[in-house]
Amino acid sequence: MKRKNIIIDCDPGQDDAIMLLLAFSAPEKLNILGITTVAGNVPLEKTQRNARIITELAGIENIKIYAGCDRPIKKKLITAEYVHGIEGIDGAPIFNPKIPLEEQHAVDFIIETLSLSEDDSITLVPTGPLTNIAQAIKKNPKILNKISEIVIMGGAMKEGGNTTPSAEFNIYVDPHAAEIVLNAGKPIVIMPLDVTHKVITNTEITNRIEKLGNKSGKLVASMLKFYNRFDEKKYGSDGGPLHDPCTIAYLLDSELFIGKQVNVSVETKSELTLGCTSVDFWEVTNKSKNCFWIYDVNKDGFFDMLLRQISKLK
Ligand code: RIB
Ligand code: CA
Repeated sequence: MKRKNIIIDCDPGQDDAIMLLLAFSAPEKLNILGITTVAGNVPLEKTQRNARIITELAGIENIKIYAGCDRPIKKKLITAEYVHGIEGIDGAPIFNPKIPLEEQHAVDFIIETLSLSEDDSITLVPTGPLTNIAQAIKKNPKILNKISEIVIMGGAMKEGGNTTPSAEFNIYVDPHAAEIVLNAGKPIVIMPLDVTHKVITNTEITNRIEKLGNKSGKLVASMLKFYNRFDEKKYGSDGGPLHDPCTIAYLLDSELFIGKQVNVSVETKSELTLGCTSVDFWEVTNKSKNCFWIYDVNKDGFFDMLLRQISKLK
């Protein structure tokens, strides 16, 4: 596999944090050009801090971290402390990280990095609201030529919403940004709740991760013990879904996943269904098939990969 040049845009969140650790574990496959952060699970000042904390705990020294948009394009920001805790990565140690926050705005970093790159050479991996990506496209549409693929965590079809009855959190927070990205005309892979709700952790998996014996394993287990409580109560499951790690797992081994090229549109007007992803799975419209919609995963293969990769970290 040719080493992929990627920019990760995230809103840590425990599942974003585990996604970052998974990405750090495969430097031979993933060249992380930078980590950008956006307001989402918790406000921006905490998502940017959390990305720096996780990067520092993983012992990663050569990746720069940027803060981006602190609110959606049009809507008022909503956050999800009720899921992730007041700090966003509750279960992880919270401290003022030594890793500096870059002065450059994340949107400008994305634009500058893409502008200096070859055509179709950069993979974007957004796992929070799509505000930064959309604002970069709006500010300089020419960067689209440089994007090879966008691998998004967001949306839902059969699973229904996790924030409103019809909307998944990342899309609901900024549906106008999602509309810009979905209509950008570049290859998009979407990891919706339909697949992320098939990679639910449980006590046995959490214990196996904790027993890996390294600091990163203990960090992941500690975050999962906090994170799992919400889904255990809401869905009666034995643990929480690993939404965001699905994006990096796809880049490391796409054969773990099954998807279909379909049209995905987003509701940006109706109050009742704002942020709903309308998926033309059975091709009843002539709309362009703009997304590779992932709907199934080899669960055992996913968790085998996750544990194998986390064991490679410090
Ligand atoms: O709906 C789940 C998504 O919203 C995940 O990316 C989670 O981290 C939150 O950002
Ligand atoms: Ca996220």
